[in-house]
Amino acid sequence: MKREYQKPRISPHTEGSMNKFGHASGSYKDSIDGVKVSSLIKEFGSPLFVFSERTVRDKYRQAAGEFSHKYSRVQFSWSYKTNYLDAICSIFHQEGSWAEVVSFFEYEKAMRLGVPGEKIIFNGPYKPYEALKLAVKMKSKINVDNMEEIFNLEKLAAELHKPIDVGIRINLDAGIYPAWTRFGFNLENESAFSTIAKMHSTGKLRLKGLHCHIGTFIMEPKAYKTTVQKLALFAKKLKDELAIKIEYIDIGGGFPSSNTLHTQYLPGSQTNPTIDEFAKVICDELMARTDCFSSPPLLILETGRALIDDAGYLISSVVGAKRLTDGTPSLILDAGVNLLFTSTWYKHNIIPAQPHSEFLENMVLFGPLCMNIDIVRPHIQFPSLSAGEQVLIHPVGAYNVTQWMQFIQYRPAIVLIDENGKHHQVRAKEDLEYMTMLESIPAHLKEKKHKAKPRK
Ligand SMILES: Cc1ncc(COP(=O)(O)O)c(C=O)c1O
Repeated sequence: MKREYQKPRISPHTEGSMNKFGHASGSYKDSIDGVKVSSLIKEFGSPLFVFSERTVRDKYRQAAGEFSHKYSRVQFSWSYKTNYLDAICSIFHQEGSWAEVVSFFEYEKAMRLGVPGEKIIFNGPYKPYEALKLAVKMKSKINVDNMEEIFNLEKLAAELHKPIDVGIRINLDAGIYPAWTRFGFNLENESAFSTIAKMHSTGKLRLKGLHCHIGTFIMEPKAYKTTVQKLALFAKKLKDELAIKIEYIDIGGGFPSSNTLHTQYLPGSQTNPTIDEFAKVICDELMARTDCFSSPPLLILETGRALIDDAGYLISSVVGAKRLTDGTPSLILDAGVNLLFTSTWYKHNIIPAQPHSEFLENMVLFGPLCMNIDIVRPHIQFPSLSAGEQVLIHPVGAYNVTQWMQFIQYRPAIVLIDENGKHHQVRAKEDLEYMTMLESIPAHLKEKKHKAKPRK
């Protein structure tokens, strides 16, 4: 490809050398699971999200293995909001995962995918009455978040003339700050205990589970030890004082992926705690505290990002290059913050998808939006690429294809590469018809000319 002329500029460079992370500056990645980036772009256009089924399954099996080797009653439940593409959820369900949903929409999606009601965990601060009614009918595990939900469930129990089994979300001090106290009922100030005592006294709801999600991208395994310890001791208090038998402990999600936070110096792939470290502290603590329960509880995990982030790639093309007025070089990519919600938190790996010059410069990578905030990366040592060349952005499998914005640009297609290296489109690229199908124009606006009426 003929390279575009770029005005010469003197700057220090690191030709062909290893940088401090051991990466040669000339490195590139031109395929995903054996499928060429160039052929994917040709078939599906750019930008393009690509998921590796092999990585999803490997990550799941590794995590499930780590936990179930250490504690026999373990159940993973796929956190839909992390990535609710039907194809991705289907992989997790095939592997044995239940569904963890936090809205009526997600609940309906899980049902449509054929997840049995009793294998759906219903969390979140807003569960509309109709959704609760359906979840009760389907015998789902409902973890109550607030008093309104408790009142609504009590009303449903009265209508059904039978008690309803529920779990309760607990928030507690696990040493992670700021603590997510807005969800559920607090352990330390006794609001959890007094709520349960009140709920128990009516006999309309039967408490079966304790749920707690302390936060996300938690870098401290010890916080889970504290969580399990506090939940177990709380279960004991409920057993001793209210004769409540807790059957499951759901510790939510929160384990980090291999991504690198903006505040981290070294790459996350080298420094973030791995799933086995979390499994060890959690299972050891639970094993040591089984006497807090009438029988060993089911341990539920709603791990999201740690299972899916690494399986997702975003292919993006360079659509322009320019020097800013201070001389800093920049590239304009066709994928920006509209598709990369997580660029707010992470320094994703951004790798050229073809051989390139070994001269690296400190650059800015912009997205395609006509918005000043559309910066994919404010500083990166990067080679000068030309329009039409591609980059691979990774890991982007968690939260981006659920939190992406349809803003200014159509959202791109998504492809899954199966374990045999065959690729499948799992979501089509948006187009004008799709974008306008929910819109309508009132008749008076369809007339070509506006007939002005005098205003009184
Ligand atoms: C209740 C609940 N469970 C599970 C998750 C998944 O968390 P993560 O992706 O950090 O594992 C979340 C995300 O915030 C959540 O709110």
